[in-house]
This record gives sequence, C-alpha cells and structure tokens, in this order.
Amino acid sequence: MAHVRVAALEELPPGAKLVVVIQGVSILIVNAEGQLYALAETCSHAKAALSAGEFDPDELTVECPLHGSCFDVRTGKPRNLPAFAPVATYPVSVEDAAVFVDYND
Ligand code: FES
Repeated sequence: MAHVRVAALEELPPGAKLVVVIQGVSILIVNAEGQLYALAETCSHAKAALSAGEFDPDELTVECPLHGSCFDVRTGKPRNLPAFAPVATYPVSVEDAAVFVDYND
C-alpha cells in the first residue's frame, strides 16, 4: 500500500472536492464538514467523471453527472440506479495540514 501526500488541507475546505491522480488512477476527495472521503473518480456505470457531478455534504453523496446515480462517499455504493456496482474507496487522513491517501492497486 502506498501512503501518498496528495494535497495541502487548505486546498480542500469544507464542501470542496478535489481530483488527484495516484499511479494513473483518478481519485475524488471531498470534504464533508471537516471529514474527508476519497473514492474512485470514474463512475462504475458508464465511466463518467464523478468530479463533474454535485457533491452533497449533508447526504454524503456525489451524483454522477451523466445518469444521476448518487454514490455514498463513505462506502462507494450507489444509492440508486442505473449504477449498481460500487466504486472503490480509499482511506484518507490529515497529517501536519497535509492530506494523505492510502492507495492499494
Ligand atoms: S455513467 Fe454514472 S450513472 Fe451512468
């Protein structure tokens, strides 16, 4: 597993989202009122970029911009069709005002 520094915490204020790339994989990081979550950026349905969708920090979901499935940022599981497969999630942490993702390929 790689423990990768991906951003300064100030780049991810509450309500923000940020895309980072680790070993060629795009990962979406979101800040829900101070709690960070990281999930694969590519939708499991038809490969749309989840970063282009709406992040709802209250519902803890990211909505796919193409067909509207809402993915739970904690689990990566879609809450509604048409997507039915989850996207990967990754442990994310903050150390010394920097954001780290534990990436397992
Ligand atoms: S591409 Fe995301 S729901 Fe279809």
